[in-house]
Amino acid sequence: MTKQILEKFDMEKIVSLCRRRGFIFPSSEIYGGLSSCWDYGPLGVELKRNIKQAWWRAVVQERDDMVGLDASILMHPQVWEASGHLKGFSDPLVECKSCHLRWRVDDLKDSNCPSCGGELTEPRLFNLMFKTFMGPIEDEASVVYLRPETAQGIFVNFQNVLNTTRKRLPFGIAQVGKAFRNEITTGNFIFRSREFEQMEIEFFVKPETAKKWFNYWLEERLNWYVKLGIKREHLRLRPHTKKELAHYARDCSDIDYQFPMGWSELEGVANRGDFDLVRHASHSGKSLDYFDEEAKEHFTPYIIEPSAGVDRSALAFLCDAYDEEPDNDEIRVLLHLHPSLAPIKVAVLPLSRREKLAKVAKEVYADLRQCWMVQYDDAQSIGRRYRRQDEIGTPFCVTVDFQSLEDEQVTIRERDTMNQIRVPISELKTTLAAKLSGEELFVLPPGGTIWKVEKEGV
Ligand code: GAP
Repeated sequence: MTKQILEKFDMEKIVSLCRRRGFIFPSSEIYGGLSSCWDYGPLGVELKRNIKQAWWRAVVQERDDMVGLDASILMHPQVWEASGHLKGFSDPLVECKSCHLRWRVDDLKDSNCPSCGGELTEPRLFNLMFKTFMGPIEDEASVVYLRPETAQGIFVNFQNVLNTTRKRLPFGIAQVGKAFRNEITTGNFIFRSREFEQMEIEFFVKPETAKKWFNYWLEERLNWYVKLGIKREHLRLRPHTKKELAHYARDCSDIDYQFPMGWSELEGVANRGDFDLVRHASHSGKSLDYFDEEAKEHFTPYIIEPSAGVDRSALAFLCDAYDEEPDNDEIRVLLHLHPSLAPIKVAVLPLSRREKLAKVAKEVYADLRQCWMVQYDDAQSIGRRYRRQDEIGTPFCVTVDFQSLEDEQVTIRERDTMNQIRVPISELKTTLAAKLSGEELFVLPPGGTIWKVEKEGV
């Protein structure tokens, strides 16, 4: 099905599938839900974990110029003074109901959004940060904030990481974690929520190389989405105009995705210059300089920041993977999720519940789950079971049938093509490992045969 047909009402299809199959539930649902907060169910938590793992692998594990960090959510209140969040988010602001850009009231020339002409909300004096108190006394001195971005935890640890890892420029620090924003307009499912997760990189470079690294990361990050299955034509780069640049940014481009509600930001890549390190150095009184041993000089590095949302990525991967195909008189709903993102990698389906067959199927199941998230399903017809797995994006089903008892072979059925091959049980794990890492389906293991299917009866 093409994206043109999926426009508009299709966010509802995603919401409904996520609810029905246990990807995402409204938060505190039995109490009527909590606005803009979501709970990830058994499949959603796997999808999110896989996204974070794929990101970590690409930006930390496979590189020698990156290291990781996990800073605390609660930080010293002065962090937010230095970062500009306390002041920057306390002005009277209006927000565009259509493109969600925020404007200071005193910057506005007329009553519509200067960027897209959309309707604006009423002005509100508000700070985007959630406030709470540390310790038993609730007074001004004990106010702390839930972080609105993970980035600040990286900036304040710049010297710690530099000293303990002996990294030299250019190098980066990556972090995944929760962020909280008291958004005034929310909606579009998990696209904009008040509690969400970010995957952020702060990449420290020599100032004169900032432009080069900015372009490098834009391309690198765009390609990451494409490699994980998002169609290139559903992604675009959108440079920020001078007016919409955040207070810390010298340059910024969004990686936009064509969500069902229209093009919207998936990730931002910013050149933050030396803003953060200079501000934290002056507020803390600690030097955040870098000493270049070759040039024998001290300077403040510039920072290139690719900042992605886990939840927004999950939504984009789900939207892009969603498909419907005619299937006799019914519709086959399927998620073409990339194997490394699919919550369940393999489903083991015995053709019958008979004890002899179940025994073999359970042995296969026990063996495979040592390697991957695997489901065992013996309820209803084989056709229905295939459909259930298609709908949650399981790339492979392994069917154990009566023939398996004699020839010790099983059938692997592939989600997207519905093609099937028959392989010896002894070759199953290595075959699936190869298939899951992208090998062509019809490269057969020793002893394997192509299995002809007539029709998948439901
Ligand atoms: N440190 C820079 C920063 O936080 P941002 O553009 O405000 O920049 C980065 O946020 C990413 O975080 C966004 O591209 C988006 O993916 C995600 N994000 C931001 N606010 C969000 C919200 N309210 N709900 C879900 N994701 C959000």
